[in-house]
Amino acid sequence: ANYTGPLRPQVHYSPPTGFMNDPNGMFYLNGVFHLYYQYNPTGLGAGNQHWGHATSKDGYTWENQPIALFPPEERQYVFSGSVVVDVNNTSGFFPNQNNGVVAIFTLARYNEDGSGGPQTQAIAYSHDEGYTFQYYDQNPVINSTSSHFRDPKVIRHGDSWAMVVAYAQEFAVGIFTSPDLKKWTWASNFTNHGLLGAQYECPNIVKMPVRDRDSGAVVDEKYVITLSAQPGAPLGGSVTQYFIGDFNGTHFTTVDAATRLTDFAKDNYAAQFFYGVEGNPISLGWASNWQYAQQVPTGNNEGWRSAMTLPRISYLTKAPRIGWTMVDEIYDTKPILGESLGAKPDMGNGSLTVDYADVASNALYIEANVTGINVAKATSFSTLNLTFTSPASGESLRSGFYFGGDNPFFVDRGQLRGFDNIFFTDKFSVADVYYDSAADKTATWRVQAVIDRSMYEVFLDGGRHAATVLLYPTQPLTMVNVAARDLPAGAKVSVGVWALKSTWA
Ligand code: FRU
Repeated sequence: ANYTGPLRPQVHYSPPTGFMNDPNGMFYLNGVFHLYYQYNPTGLGAGNQHWGHATSKDGYTWENQPIALFPPEERQYVFSGSVVVDVNNTSGFFPNQNNGVVAIFTLARYNEDGSGGPQTQAIAYSHDEGYTFQYYDQNPVINSTSSHFRDPKVIRHGDSWAMVVAYAQEFAVGIFTSPDLKKWTWASNFTNHGLLGAQYECPNIVKMPVRDRDSGAVVDEKYVITLSAQPGAPLGGSVTQYFIGDFNGTHFTTVDAATRLTDFAKDNYAAQFFYGVEGNPISLGWASNWQYAQQVPTGNNEGWRSAMTLPRISYLTKAPRIGWTMVDEIYDTKPILGESLGAKPDMGNGSLTVDYADVASNALYIEANVTGINVAKATSFSTLNLTFTSPASGESLRSGFYFGGDNPFFVDRGQLRGFDNIFFTDKFSVADVYYDSAADKTATWRVQAVIDRSMYEVFLDGGRHAATVLLYPTQPLTMVNVAARDLPAGAKVSVGVWALKSTWA
C-alpha cells in the first residue's frame, strides 16, 4: 500500500486502500495491540463490511494484517463488535491454550431489495491470537428479528462475561451475561440517556480508575459507558457521549444525570477500549463523522478513506466545581517524537514561528503551557494562538485560547480551501468554535497538539478536553506560528515544537 499521499496521516492508522469506519475487536495481548475495523475493501464508501486488521507494539506504528472476518453469506455483513481473551477456556474452543481469542459481533442481513434484514449477534474464535478466525457453527448466539440491534462489546466481570449492545432505534443499551460466550441471558436495559440522535450505536463499558485531581493517586474506581449516536449531534452528524457510574455485572447506575461528550469537536466516533489493558484504559476512535465521512477528499485522490484517532489513555477525576470528568491523555508519544524544531521556554507575550517544510512526515507535536494568568485581568485580546499556514496557497488552520472570552478554545478550519471547492461547505467549513466549559477557567492552561497532514488533535488542560479535527488543505501546511498576545502581567508562557517521525515511511 502507498502511504505517501499529501493527505495520508503519518502517525495515525488508515487502511491500505478502501473505506474504513468503526474500530472493532480491539485487544492487547503479549505486547501487541490488535485493531480490527469496519472495512469495505472494494469501495470508498460504507458497505460490504469485513473486519480489517492491523497490529502494533507501540500504539502508533501499525502493520497491516490480512482481513480477519469475511461476510459468511451473500447479503450478510460483519458489523461492529469486540474481542475477548478466553484465558480459562470458558467457551470450550481452546482445550490446549490460555490465549484463545473470541470475537463477538453483529451479522447484518440485507434483503434482496437492499432494505435491512435482521441483525443478530454472532461469535468466531481464533487459535492464533487473533490473526485467523473460524465462525462458531451454531451462530447466532443472540437471535433477533430487529434490523437495529447491534455492536456488542464484551468485558469480563467477576466469574462471568457481560455484554453491552445497542437496541439502536429504541435508545436502549441492552446488558446481557454469559458463562461461556455462547449462551447469553438478558439482564437489564440502560434506556433513554443523554443525546439520542436518530439511533444509539457502538456502546462500550469499561472499568476506570478515579484519580485525585492534584496528586494523580488512584482513590476509587467506577465504570464508564461510552455511547455513540447519529445523526443529530449538537455539531451535526455523529457524536460520542459517556456516562459515569457503577456496574454490578447486570445493572449500570449513573453517578449523576449529566451527559458528557468525549470530544469538543466532531470527528471522533465509535471509540472503543482495548480489552486486556490494566490500569488506565486505552482507546482509539474513528476519526470521522457520518455527516461527510463518505465524501471527504482523501478517497478521491489517494484510494482510501478514514483514519483512526491517536490512542488515548483515560481516567476519571472529580473537581469541586465541575464535578466528574473523564481525562483523555495522549498515549506515550516517545516512539513518534522526532527532533525539536524550536522552543521558547520563557516566551511571555511574543511568538515562535517554525517553517517545517523540510519535515518529511509533515507532522508535528506542539506543546504550550501558560501559567499565572490573572483571569480577572484578561481581556478579549488576551490570546494564545496556534496557526498553521500554507505559504503556497495562503490557507490556514487556526486554533487557540481566548482567555477573556466565553469560548476559551477554538479550532477554525474555515480558512482552508480544500473542501469548499469540492462540496459539503455548509457542514464542514464552518468556523468551528468549541469549548464546553467556561466554568473550568483556571490560571493554568496547557495545550498539546498533533498535526498530521489531514488531521489535527488537541488535548487541553492535560486532557480534560480533547478534540479531533479533519482538514483538507489544497497545499500542505508547512508553517506554524504560536503567539501569545496581551496576556496580563505575571503570565508565563513556554512553547515547544517537535517533528514527528512517520510510522509508515
Ligand atoms: C457505526 C455503525 C455501527 C455498525 C457499523 C456498520 O458507525 O453504523 O452501528 O455496526 O457502523 O459499518
